[in-house]
Amino acid sequence: MDSQTTYNYKVVRQFAVMTVVWGIVGMLVGVFIAAELVWPQLSMDLPWFHFGRLRPLHTNAVIFAFGGSALFATSYYVVQRTCQTRLFASGLAAFTFWGWMLVIVLAAISFPLGITTSKEYAELEWPIDILITVVWVSYAVVFFGTIVKRKVKHIYVANWFYGAYILTIAVLHLVNSAAVPVSLTKSYSAYPGAIDAMVQWWYGHNAVGFFLTAGFLGMMYYFVPKQAGRPVYSYRLSVVHFWALISTYMWAGPHHLHYTALPMWAQSVGMVFSLILLAPSWGGMINGIMTLSGAWHKLRDDPILKFLIVSLSFYGMSTFEGPMMAIKTVNALSHYTDWTIGHVHSGALGWVAMVSIGSVYFLIPKLFGREQMYSVRLIDWHFWMSTIGVVLYIVSMWISGVMQGLMWRAVNSDGTLTYSFVESLQAMYPFYFVRFLGGALFLSGMFLMAYNVIKTVSGARAFNAPVPQSA
Ligand code: HEM
Ligand code: HEM
Repeated sequence: MDSQTTYNYKVVRQFAVMTVVWGIVGMLVGVFIAAELVWPQLSMDLPWFHFGRLRPLHTNAVIFAFGGSALFATSYYVVQRTCQTRLFASGLAAFTFWGWMLVIVLAAISFPLGITTSKEYAELEWPIDILITVVWVSYAVVFFGTIVKRKVKHIYVANWFYGAYILTIAVLHLVNSAAVPVSLTKSYSAYPGAIDAMVQWWYGHNAVGFFLTAGFLGMMYYFVPKQAGRPVYSYRLSVVHFWALISTYMWAGPHHLHYTALPMWAQSVGMVFSLILLAPSWGGMINGIMTLSGAWHKLRDDPILKFLIVSLSFYGMSTFEGPMMAIKTVNALSHYTDWTIGHVHSGALGWVAMVSIGSVYFLIPKLFGREQMYSVRLIDWHFWMSTIGVVLYIVSMWISGVMQGLMWRAVNSDGTLTYSFVESLQAMYPFYFVRFLGGALFLSGMFLMAYNVIKTVSGARAFNAPVPQSA
């Protein structure tokens, strides 16, 4: 089975199944912290269940455990299939699976204990950072090693996106995690003051751009054409999309630091590049959606395609909203409010989670030698639960966010504040409840998915497709 005549589906299977598992865990924590914002007593006054400790657990679990597993699974699958060769260095690929799982378990232990660098999305302490570096370098060796030993001349565009995500995350992680350790569980950033903030948000924004976007665009460029049974709408556009996107994202980070100690010119550079970013983002979105031209009817009864195409619509929405929020005067209203949280989840749930779910539904039957998923009807149910869940989540946060912003800045004619902070907090309650409902609905859909996967997989044998020998 491990000979060079079959693709290495084992590691893809492991990551694909763990995508579902970590999706449930990460979203469960998300629903729990959403509930804590409605019923704070849920923390039971225990430090381990405190919102401040569980929030980074949620963000890391959904981004790196759920999103990461989906990216590992699909990149390993896509690079083999499009290069028509078995994955390079199977042993190293297995190491990336177990190493990544260890990172996640260490995160799940250290965050509730309050061990954190306090740098958002880079909260893990230095020993775990070193482990991440080792796993990531191994990932790069496996991925690029496969590209090098490819049997076809052309490198399909999805691999360009995956490759850019792997390389960039390596650079971001190394630079942003530079720190001076003072004990096994505590370190201090190597950068001072405003420079630390700039490095952190150069990292933070590119984590969005390369982890939560470029990698998932790689997914989109493979799975949308496959599921639609059509070639990519414009291959030329996909190449322009790639170069335009990666060269613009790098400069947009300062939009997270408007009206801070960062020099004004740097803030303006961030704003301008964010506005420019609209063009490549929409170019990619249109390229994905137009791939369906001539096959729109398939949307009627193919729920996997619905997941993929609706994810692109959310991608388009969040990449329109992002540039608008990057305009300084708009950011003066949106920053610190739930509007940001709404934006995050239209990208994270609508785009990242939905494109991953669609791709995993595509993969599971192939990896276990089945014709299709156990129940297509359940996928359809899942699709609607997810879509309604996201809409409830983001609409409630938009309303709550704009309301917060307006209440905080409202002043009376004598210059005093119209509302106290507590009044704005009270006004948010109904919206926090709606967000909790939306999240719970999305999570319930994930349970349906788990059931569907278990039914598809049970009794099936692990399957490794043969590598075409003629190529
Ligand atoms: C059932 C689904 C989910 C629920 C109920 C949920 C809930 C939450 C809550 C309550 C917060 C804290 C908001 C605050 O501090 O006011 C949060 C933050 C966050 N979540 Fe989720 N979430 C879900 C899914 C996801 C997914 C799938 C992702 C990523 C792929 C994600 C990424 C994030 C990020 C990045 C933040 C931090 C946002 C910021 O700092 O601005 N979430 N989530
Ligand atoms: C053209 C694309 C985009 C631009 C220009 C953009 C811009 C922005 C802006 C201006 C903020 C608010 C910063 C603040 O006030 O603190 C923000 C926050 C955020 N965006 Fe986007 N966005 C884009 C796309 C996306 C996508 C597709 C995702 C997710 C997949 C995403 C995830 C996030 C996250 C997680 C945050 C919260 C960061 C934090 O404060 O913790 N963004 N974005």
